[in-house]
Amino acid sequence: MRLSKEFRDQYCQQEMRTHGRKNGFVTDGQEARLLKWLPKIGLPKGKTLNNSGIPEGSPIVMEIGFGNGDFLVYTAQNNPDWILIGVEIYLPGVAKAVGRLEDAGVIERTRITQLPAQFVLEHQVEPEQLDGFIINHPDPWPKARHHKRRIIQKDMAAMMVRCLKPGGFIQLASDIEELAKWMRDILDDTPSLRNIAGKGGYIARDDGRIFTKFEQRGINAGRKSHFLHYIKEES
Ligand SMILES: C[S@@+](CC[C@H](N)C(=O)[O-])C[C@H]1O[C@@H](n2cnc3c(N)ncnc32)[C@H](O)[C@@H]1O
Repeated sequence: MRLSKEFRDQYCQQEMRTHGRKNGFVTDGQEARLLKWLPKIGLPKGKTLNNSGIPEGSPIVMEIGFGNGDFLVYTAQNNPDWILIGVEIYLPGVAKAVGRLEDAGVIERTRITQLPAQFVLEHQVEPEQLDGFIINHPDPWPKARHHKRRIIQKDMAAMMVRCLKPGGFIQLASDIEELAKWMRDILDDTPSLRNIAGKGGYIARDDGRIFTKFEQRGINAGRKSHFLHYIKEES
């Protein structure tokens, strides 16, 4: 089975490579799940959160770069009233996550998209529509000439603040100290955001949280994770 061109046009990123990485191969079983679920819970280019059938009054939290979906499943299981918007540009990750969300019985409380987070925030989310953001172990892009590819940038931070309700949160984790500092410095300087650990601070790891694939990879390599938590101030 192959996803048809029409299906890909609607639900998948057109670029089959993202910053040089292949972005396409999924198993037949995963394709079947994508075909079953994306028409119901996908967020294709023409749709916005407003016309995606989200029940009114539900808290809406977005995870950006969910990888294989472990944390998305964990968050859905621990917050039964939340609607989770999962944004991940790597198609095999989306395919794995859709399977995990279905198996965990939480998929109907999610909306999933393979579009880049920057596009989703700019075109598919209204101002003050989200209650929170989660970003775990974003790509570090360690070379200085690649820093512009990092997900947290000044303009991205401003876009996130625009989409957050007053009182909403941004929760981040990284096992790369230099990237954690990069994100902290940008977010500490972003108007309307308050670092709950105080400027320059990190919060402790929440004991209950699961280890994502990339947190575990960091631990195996001897690295410690850093956790950040911001609140959008009420105006
Ligand atoms: C290092 S992985 C971390 C995955 C997972 N959060 C974890 O902790 O195991 C970073 C993920 O962010 C995704 N990503 C990178 N840029 C993105 C963007 N602009 N929009 C959405 N996802 C993005 C990548 O495809 C990748 O799966």
